[in-house]
Amino acid sequence: MTDRRQFAPATERNRSSILSVLKVKLPDTGTVLEVASGSGEHAVFFAPALRPLKWQPSNYDPEQLESVEDWIAHQPSDNLLPPISLDVTKPLWPVEEAGYNGGPITAIFNANMIHISPWQTCEGLMAGARRILPVGGRLILYGPFKVNGEHTAASNAKFESWLKSLDPDFAVRDIEVVSAEAKKNDLGHTAVLPMPANNYIHIFEKT
Ligand SMILES: C[S@@+](CC[C@H](N)C(=O)[O-])C[C@H]1O[C@@H](n2cnc3c(N)ncnc32)[C@H](O)[C@@H]1O
Repeated sequence: MTDRRQFAPATERNRSSILSVLKVKLPDTGTVLEVASGSGEHAVFFAPALRPLKWQPSNYDPEQLESVEDWIAHQPSDNLLPPISLDVTKPLWPVEEAGYNGGPITAIFNANMIHISPWQTCEGLMAGARRILPVGGRLILYGPFKVNGEHTAASNAKFESWLKSLDPDFAVRDIEVVSAEAKKNDLGHTAVLPMPANNYIHIFEKT
C-alpha cells in the first residue's frame, strides 16, 4: 500500500516545547481545531497527550491532507478526528457547517502558516477565530515574528529573504500588526512565550 506520509523534520525539533505549552494553555474539554496541519506529525504527537480533548486536523492542500490521513493510520489515537479540508481565507469553515459533528471547537492552534502564505491567511485566521471561538476561547499561534518591525534574530532575517524569494507576499509578520488584526476581530493578545530557535507562541483570547 502506498505510504503518503510527508516528513517535516522541524516538527520533531519543536513538538515537545509546543506540547508543554499546549498542556497548560488549552481548555479541559471540547475540540482543538488545528489550522494548517502540514504533514500531520504535530497532530499525531499532540493528540494522545491531550486527552480528553479531541484534536481536529485540517489543511487546504489535498496532498498534505493525505499525509495527515496516513500519519493517523500509522499512529492512531481515539481522540484524533479525520482531517478536514479547510482554507482559512474562506468566509465559512467546515467546522461551522450544520453537518459538522466533531465539536464544540473550544480552541484553535496554528503553527508556521502566516509567514509562508499571503497576509490574507492571517486575516482569515483571525476572522475565523472570531466566528468560532467561545468567549475566553484561545487561538494559540506558533512561529517566527518580528517585534516593532525588527527581526529577533539574524537567522530570521535570512529566513525572510528566502521566503520573499518564494513569493514577495510571504514575510515574517510583525507581532504588533498581527495583534492589531486580532483586535479587529475581538481577540485580545494575552501572552507571549519564547520558544526554541527564535520562535514564539502568541496567545489570543476571544473577548
Ligand atoms: C510551513 S507549513 C506548516 C505546517 C505545520 N503547521 C507545521 O508547523 O509543520 C504551512 C502550512 O500552511 C498551509 N496553508 C497555507 N495557506 C493556507 C490556507 N489558505 N488555508 C489553510 N492552510 C494553509 C499549507 O498547506 C501548509 O500546510
